[in-house]
Amino acid sequence: FLGGRLVDNLNIFWHNGKVEYKDRCKHLKQKGMVLWFTGLSGSGKSTIAVQVEKELYKKGFVTYLLDGDNVRYGLNSNLGFSNEDREENIRRIAEVSALFKDAGLITLVSFISPFRKSREFAKQKIGSITFVEIYVKADVETCAKRDPKGLYKKVKKGVIKNFTGISSPYEEPENPDILLDTRELSVEEAANKVIKFVLNKQR
Ligand code: PPS
Repeated sequence: FLGGRLVDNLNIFWHNGKVEYKDRCKHLKQKGMVLWFTGLSGSGKSTIAVQVEKELYKKGFVTYLLDGDNVRYGLNSNLGFSNEDREENIRRIAEVSALFKDAGLITLVSFISPFRKSREFAKQKIGSITFVEIYVKADVETCAKRDPKGLYKKVKKGVIKNFTGISSPYEEPENPDILLDTRELSVEEAANKVIKFVLNKQR
């Protein structure tokens, strides 16, 4: 099942620390949370996440951005784009962002994260109150027209297989906390919507 090795029989025991989540939050003067951006390649996830992080930083919040492309250079460099690898990719990111949240950080996560059950797993791991699902919405034709990295062109030529939205599925969020339709909103408008939501939660 997703998310879990069974640790029964492994003689592993949870060790409690003496500094807790609430202590760290008090230190940082903020609540830890995870802003989980999901959407197709080229939908605008990373651009908006970068803008949100910059603005939150300016307001004095302590943040960290985990971006799909970047994390695939390191932690997840052994993973490709099969369904199984994408599931493992998101499982690891859910675990890492749960730790970052526990550290008290406002963590921004920008991965396609195409499967509902993976995002559901992340929500359970992180906690439904501190997990914010943000659907960065743009249809595949719009994304292909933008094609900022030239990937859709490569897909058309048959160079890239299993491409999300074309030859690999994307399961749209059914009830996202925030919907950003990037065919209608500018980067600033989209980022402001997220920041408003965060400031409300931080009260
Ligand atoms: S996933 O589905 O959540 O595991 O994907 P993610 O880790 O976010 O990585 C997506 C980025 O990888 C590049 N890329 C591909 N995306 C989708 N499908 C295929 N086959 C693929 N191959 C490479 C692409 O640059 C994605 O970045 P974004 O920022 O989404 O455009």
